[in-house]
Amino acid sequence: MGCQLNENDSEKLCGMLEKMGYDKTEDTKQADIVLFNTCCVRENAEDKLFGKLGELKKIKEEKGIIIAIGGCMMQEKHITDKIKESYPFVDILFGTHTLHRFPEDLYQALQEKRKQEDIIDIDGEIHEGLPIKRESSIKASVTIMNGCNNFCSYCIVPYVRGRERSRKPRAIIEEVKELAKQGYQEITLLGQNVNSYLRVEKEKQIPFEEYEGVNSFATLLRAINKIEGIQRIRFVSPHPKDFTDDVIQAIADCEKVCKLIHLPLQSGNTKVLKEMNRKYTKEQYLNLVEKMKNKIPNLTLSTDIIVGFPGETEEEFKDTLDVVEKVKFEQVYMFIYSRRIGTPGDKMENQIPEEIKHQRFNRLKALVESQIEENNQKYIGTTQKVLVEGESKNNSKMLTGRTDSNKVVIFEGPKEWIGTMQDLKIVSEHMWYLKGEK
Ligand code: SAH
Ligand code: SF4
Ligand code: F3S
Repeated sequence: MGCQLNENDSEKLCGMLEKMGYDKTEDTKQADIVLFNTCCVRENAEDKLFGKLGELKKIKEEKGIIIAIGGCMMQEKHITDKIKESYPFVDILFGTHTLHRFPEDLYQALQEKRKQEDIIDIDGEIHEGLPIKRESSIKASVTIMNGCNNFCSYCIVPYVRGRERSRKPRAIIEEVKELAKQGYQEITLLGQNVNSYLRVEKEKQIPFEEYEGVNSFATLLRAINKIEGIQRIRFVSPHPKDFTDDVIQAIADCEKVCKLIHLPLQSGNTKVLKEMNRKYTKEQYLNLVEKMKNKIPNLTLSTDIIVGFPGETEEEFKDTLDVVEKVKFEQVYMFIYSRRIGTPGDKMENQIPEEIKHQRFNRLKALVESQIEENNQKYIGTTQKVLVEGESKNNSKMLTGRTDSNKVVIFEGPKEWIGTMQDLKIVSEHMWYLKGEK
């Protein structure tokens, strides 16, 4: 139900269940087990779970299925208390640090017919070698670090995912080499703050073995760039404050690293950024963008923005619009500020009324959409390298794929192209996708 890290955990849960003899179904009526991997980054992510649990009550009573809930929401005590009280029919609760124990928890639940609660509040070790059943055979996600140390004042993630810790270079390189062998074309490196990969280890002198020259995020990009078979490398999310010159240079030098970089802005106003604990100013962000544009040919940028953070004035919000106007992002993920229990933001007194938050959201959205329309025009008549991902969902006669800048392209072509890179001429734009021709 959450971010790409959460989806990657779900692939591991599916891998474990498959090894235990289970198959996947999206139809709850056919299921023996219903498993939720939850997210709590915003209130609407939480609401999704409660809606679904309500629907499941009847099926549980009729068929006695097992219901298990894991993920970030389970690290919040007020949530597990609510589940135990209002949804007592749930069989297994497990957290983000005990994912690897899910088979044991399930076994106990089946064997002893007793409820299981397996949640701990420590910075769980990184467990290597879990089975994994990936969603795609073309694109794969590889988690490179767990946790976050940044404590942005609006954000719950550091509380539910624990402190930052990186996987060993060898484990990552070996996983990517294996994926290349299996025919994967695109790798996305995942972490809450990928460009601080191995930083904590170096600061605290926690030993890690250098492998193939990897001792930082920049050297990791360079090492993966050398792996034969892999065509594209992406990563999310980097933090602007950690975007060091060696990382910028590695992106420029590595031909497989996509030139669409996600650079979360959150707010364009220096005072709000300070309150958010983001550790950069409006000017520093804009200077970083300038520097990156100068060093990385064909750079495009995407971003995350929160509107209506406590205390945000009309003038301060206009700074966000100003940065969006200046940078011209390829894609903007927009969020309305959501109060998260336990974060400093929730305790701030000057919360913004819902109506104003929504108005600001709509104003930002209108600006972003007008920019996307304009930006799409740039593609018409150009030739783009497209990684072909499969049949188009809405029209099985057409194929779909993505450009380096992550734009969806729809086009006609033989099925044999699926999983290959094709040069396509862009003939028209349709807001959220482009049409291409060979
Ligand atoms: N570690 C990543 C992503 C964290 S969560 C990063 O720093 O970029 C993804 C996005 O959700 C954040 O970038 C932020 O824009 C948004 N988000 C996080 N907490 C939020 C909250 N309380 N309300 C609204 N949006 C939030
Ligand atoms: Fe949350 Fe900030 Fe960490 Fe991202 S960097 S996960 S927004 S605390
Ligand atoms: Fe959500 Fe947890 Fe990811 S809170 S955004 S699933 S790290």
